[in-house]
Amino acid sequence: MRDTASRLAWAEPGNAPIMASPIFKESGFARMIQKPLELPADAEGVMRLAAQSMFELMADAAQGMMLVDRDHRIVWISEGYKRFLPDLGFADETEFVGRRVEEVVPNTMMNQVIETGRPILVDLLTNRAGTFVVSRLPLRDDAGRVTGALGIVLLNDAGAMMQPLISKFAQLQAQLEEAHRQLAEQRRPKYQIASFIGTSPQALEVKRQARRVAAAHSTVLLLGETGTGKELLAHAIHAASPRAAKALVGINIAAIPDTLLEAELFGVAPGAYTGADRKGREGKFAIADGGTLFLDEIGDMPLPLQSKLLRVLQEQEFEPLGSNKVRRVDVRVIAATSRDLTAMMARGEFRSDLYYRLNVLPIRLPPLRERPGDIEALADTLGEDIARRSGMAVRTLAPDALELLARQPWPGNTRELRNVLEQASMMSDDLHLRAEHFAGLLPDAPEPPACVSTESIPAQEPLPLRPLPDQIASLEREAISAALAYTQGNKLAAARLLHISRAALYDKLAAYAL
Ligand SMILES: Nc1ncnc2c1ncn2[C@@H]1O[C@H](COP(=O)(O)OP(=O)(O)O)[C@@H](O)[C@H]1O
Ligand SMILES: [Mg+2]
Repeated sequence: MRDTASRLAWAEPGNAPIMASPIFKESGFARMIQKPLELPADAEGVMRLAAQSMFELMADAAQGMMLVDRDHRIVWISEGYKRFLPDLGFADETEFVGRRVEEVVPNTMMNQVIETGRPILVDLLTNRAGTFVVSRLPLRDDAGRVTGALGIVLLNDAGAMMQPLISKFAQLQAQLEEAHRQLAEQRRPKYQIASFIGTSPQALEVKRQARRVAAAHSTVLLLGETGTGKELLAHAIHAASPRAAKALVGINIAAIPDTLLEAELFGVAPGAYTGADRKGREGKFAIADGGTLFLDEIGDMPLPLQSKLLRVLQEQEFEPLGSNKVRRVDVRVIAATSRDLTAMMARGEFRSDLYYRLNVLPIRLPPLRERPGDIEALADTLGEDIARRSGMAVRTLAPDALELLARQPWPGNTRELRNVLEQASMMSDDLHLRAEHFAGLLPDAPEPPACVSTESIPAQEPLPLRPLPDQIASLEREAISAALAYTQGNKLAAARLLHISRAALYDKLAAYAL
């Protein structure tokens, strides 16, 4: 405990100018200090004394103080503060006092304290003079108006003194940034238009058209054989469209039995059925509201549903199954098919009005055989992806292997190219794949040099020494042919027999060129 005289001592020699400052004179602090200090009997007096003691404590402990007026101008600095001036870039007080605080003290918050009238009791201030623990208090006149602010440097060299706290803070900040980065990564679309690999004129045209239609609102129709990248492009168009922040909902029409398709697309009203669906269920159109609906294999849509789809495309409204209440949605449709819709239309299997409605913005995806120049880049990308997913090393392709790949017809397009690359990689430990590594996978691949171990086996019965993927492929092929023969070419029935989806069957038919 100090006596009144020493409590006032801080205000005397070095700090005398602060007492003369009009801002300070009008502030509550000044009034407190000018009164003789005896223990007051009233509550207000006690408060005042408490405030004064706190102020004195700060003043005592402070490394420096500054006073700023309502216009943010520095009107006074303490003796202690002067030693920070060189680091702030000022030779002496006369250059500093009178300037606006935000011009001369980088990262100051004094201006904010003046504007809001709210104190910042403890804060870290870092600028070119170092890191400081500071306190900033607004000064008010009798009417409560802010007349300025007092800035107190409680600790200088806080960087060294508070190292544990600061490094903890830096660590938390780094963690936060990492979390933000991961979140942004997750939100980034899986496919962008740039994910469509290829620099052939045909591939560049596909990308140009995709960019153009992304901005539009109309329905997009993607036409191309299986494996030409229709699904990839649908994702990329959605991601580049104004709807990117909303959902892309996909449905493969060929994979869903006709009887379930309507409920799948349009939903079921509550109570429409007994049993599992009693509560009702949202359809894909409702789920995609505000976003994009990708209708894959649209050519497989049964005729009666085609008219219901046409109505949604025209009116953006539909009725869920078992409901007579119209539901309005805002959905952009991207449809795709590997089938020849015009031929289907001519046979009466596809409604012409729906076709014209879908065909507003058609994009044709060229098969691989029309752009053999892209095979190298595609093989690179696919090879990296195969390696990443399988844990195998990345393989490179010898010129004769590339030549071999480039002259294939690739009925299954990228999907088939991927299979072939994957199988060739599994069959060999060589990191550099030559044409002979594709023997058994591609009909015109050169035979590999005879293998010693097979020669030494007595050739009585043919042993299954072909590579396993090769054997699996021929087994699949035989099974599919047999199923189709049994069902007399009915693909849906064949798919059921084989316990695979119709879409999977179509993919395999294309991949095996059946
Ligand atoms: N141009 C391309 N660039 C990169 N990957 C492609 C390309 N085209 C197809 N793919 C890949 O090939 C596979 C099949 O493509 P997908 O979009 O499903 O074809 P589709 O829907 O036409 O049958 C996917 O893994 C896809 O990422
Ligand atoms: Mg597909």
